[in-house]
Amino acid sequence: MTDYDLVIRGGSVVSATDVTECDVAIKDGRIVALGRDFADGADTIDATGKWILPGGIDSHCHIEQESSMGVWTADDFCSGTVAAACGGTTTIIPFAAQYKGQSLRRVVQDYHARAEAKAVIDYAFHLIISDPTAAVLGQELPALIKDGYTSFKIYTTYESLKLDDRQILEVLAVARREGAMVMVHAENHDIIAWLSERLLAAGHAAPKYHGVAHAAVAEREATHRAISLAEIVDVPLLIVHVSGHEAIEQIRWAQSKGLRVYGETCPQYLFLTAADMDQPGFAGAMCMCSPPPRDKANQEAVWRGLQSRVFQVFSSDHAPYRYDDPEGKLRAGDRTTFKTVANGVPGIELRLPLLFSEGVMKGRISMSHFVELTATNAAKLYGLYPRKGTIAVGADADIAIWDQSRETTVTLDLLHENMDYTPYEGMTLQGWPTTVISRGEVIVDDGDVAASRGRGQFLPCDLPEPARPAAGPRWAATDGFDPTGNR
Ligand code: URP
Ligand code: ZN
Ligand code: ZN
Repeated sequence: MTDYDLVIRGGSVVSATDVTECDVAIKDGRIVALGRDFADGADTIDATGKWILPGGIDSHCHIEQESSMGVWTADDFCSGTVAAACGGTTTIIPFAAQYKGQSLRRVVQDYHARAEAKAVIDYAFHLIISDPTAAVLGQELPALIKDGYTSFKIYTTYESLKLDDRQILEVLAVARREGAMVMVHAENHDIIAWLSERLLAAGHAAPKYHGVAHAAVAEREATHRAISLAEIVDVPLLIVHVSGHEAIEQIRWAQSKGLRVYGETCPQYLFLTAADMDQPGFAGAMCMCSPPPRDKANQEAVWRGLQSRVFQVFSSDHAPYRYDDPEGKLRAGDRTTFKTVANGVPGIELRLPLLFSEGVMKGRISMSHFVELTATNAAKLYGLYPRKGTIAVGADADIAIWDQSRETTVTLDLLHENMDYTPYEGMTLQGWPTTVISRGEVIVDDGDVAASRGRGQFLPCDLPEPARPAAGPRWAATDGFDPTGNR
């Protein structure tokens, strides 16, 4: 009789701080021992020469979600989580998105109904708050935070999602009182709307003008404003999908002041540029997202932001809309302009292989830094640590075994996303997650998917680490006056 269900032998185990040559023993879905010379388990994997990493956490992805334009993402909770798993991700945190007039509680129930019979890996939910009514702020949101929905995204743009500054302050105040984490999509709506109108009036309808309308200055202004509002309320804030140096400078400035401001970036800002939106016809729509990819100098700035830890999180912002589909990116047909194209690019499957290849294998970041950016920090920032995001005794046995010698040329048919294109077609990547384990179960083995629909479990989140109430009074801005009414 063996004590262990699974033993992984001979690999290099990577955490956010260390690389250790040791074996991993797993029982009942959890890691129970790290060391050497364990007896064989019921199953044993020889990982000699491979890297044993925590399964990735993709903390920004849109799955089975209707966009603000009324377009449904191509991936549901089955295809989206299968694709995630095949790319080395074992936990996702997609959004439960509220639209105006909707009860937040009802929205959450709807998303649970979509996920529970389909997800093959574990999942939590961020909320999207677009209608912060008195009932939402006073009752629904505090109750949902207590039930494990401890982070929410708000928008400064998109007609049907955007909040004004007053509303943002109200949401931030609830987050401060309850200990939640607020994520902001930071782009100045009026700048974008004004530029878009002028571009269209001048006959500039092609996808490349999306990049002109969504100016870096619009992102910079909204980033600075969101930081300022969070500073007033004294609450942590995470700026999502940062595209370049203008916004990076604002985040770095806030961090240098000691504010609890965090940053997230995504593959599209490292591997695409504005030139990818400038293709014949509307093909550039395949690389349209908001904020848009910018130029080479901004790509370099994003790499430096990762290296210097301005960014804590590297997520996909997977927002998959098919190209050649009457319900997809170009659903407006003959009336298509850059304003009618559904915003977003796919990336849930290639997020980790792209960063592993171009970040770790090209020497830009260390293996431990990769783990920090793709798993551990998200677990800490969103209240899943230490159950998720690390390889440690007691943690869930969510593991990706990486073979750095595996070279892969990206083609659409290799991928499991329910998409008709990938923006990364033709790239050759070094390193691949050949075995993926979720709660002790091998769910991907050398390209074979062995995960059953619905095996993924919902993860109620604890309060995020940076948002947990401090031991003493924190408000110090103005003689002890606390505008949030907390003391
Ligand atoms: O263009 C993007 N990023 N689409 C997804 C929605 C969002 O704002 O993250
Ligand atoms: Zn966004
Ligand atoms: Zn997004």
